[in-house]
Amino acid sequence: MSDSSVAIAIRDLVKRYAPVKGKGGRAGQGGAGQGAEGKLALGGVSFDVPQGQIFGLLGPNGAGKSTLINIMAGLVMKTSGTVEIWGHDIDRDSRNAKASIGIVPQEIVFDPFFTPFEVLENQGGLWGVPKALRRSEELLKAVHLADKRNAYSRSLSGGMKRRLLIAKAMVHSPPILVLDEPTAGVDVELRRQLWELVSELNHQGVTVVLTTHYLEEAEELCDRIAIINHGQLITNRPTRELVEMTREKILLLTLDRDIGDLPSHPAFVKCRKAGERVLEITYDKDRVTAGEVLGQVQAQGFVIVDVSTQEPDLEDVFVQLTSDREAA
Ligand SMILES: Nc1ncnc2c1ncn2[C@@H]1O[C@H](COP(=O)(O)OP(=O)(O)OP(=O)(O)O)[C@@H](O)[C@H]1O
Ligand SMILES: [Mg+2]
Repeated sequence: MSDSSVAIAIRDLVKRYAPVKGKGGRAGQGGAGQGAEGKLALGGVSFDVPQGQIFGLLGPNGAGKSTLINIMAGLVMKTSGTVEIWGHDIDRDSRNAKASIGIVPQEIVFDPFFTPFEVLENQGGLWGVPKALRRSEELLKAVHLADKRNAYSRSLSGGMKRRLLIAKAMVHSPPILVLDEPTAGVDVELRRQLWELVSELNHQGVTVVLTTHYLEEAEELCDRIAIINHGQLITNRPTRELVEMTREKILLLTLDRDIGDLPSHPAFVKCRKAGERVLEITYDKDRVTAGEVLGQVQAQGFVIVDVSTQEPDLEDVFVQLTSDREAA
């Protein structure tokens, strides 16, 4: 890998799932778009995950998030492109690539008859971690399950199971932790606890990649956010920058007469005619108040008949970015 500050480097990643054949195929897996060619789940995706960050991978259902993660985990075969994990190519050096990453899958799966301690010990054994170097107790403490050490895993609540899965992903001390929808279906309180756990691990130096549908979660946790839709990367930028996009507010003004010259002001990000007599002004709410915007328009001789506002948030940016791509 050329840049040592990169944890994961993905280049031109393509995944086309084989077409589902006849009745023996997997029902419900492809749906629309699953033609004779199969389903194009990733259409050439490239991006880097910087070391030491919490990186959010966002996108609607079926966008390709799990496909991407499962390729990193070595669970799904890519069609073409390259993936380097901690400098190790997943084809040429799959052993080291796999050892550098801990994956928490979207579905909760483990043998319900093992205790949390046994789950971690077994996993340590699978990774070939010598008994003396296993961190099962430490990991149970880290995920706040020390008191459940000897309980049956099936008796754990959903949130506890997810925490155990995080510990399980960390038994071989990988520098990267990947969580596929860690908080799906988890209540608000438990979600907070998981966020804290992920932040703690990150403070200890672990690079974290997570997928989520919750924009609030991405905004709170992630240093950087990539959005994918229909297997294409739509944006990849610091969370701060994405949220900045939401600093913009929109005023829709109905005026008393047809609009000739558009009013202008340095704090107007955009000003356009949304109808004969309707003006849409996008402005930076940190630089100008709604009152000042109205004042500017009035100062140019217009009478304002009606006013309505729109305040975008990260969700709007998300919808805007994903629908722009659809329209294109
Ligand atoms: N094993 C498979 N065989 C065929 N198609 C698949 C398979 N797995 C996933 N797909 C298809 O690939 C596309 C991407 O699916 P993927 O699971 O990666 O999406 P996702 O972004 O993780 O969605 P979600 O948010 O619902 O978890 C979907 O259209 C899905 O139906
Ligand atoms: Mg998924």
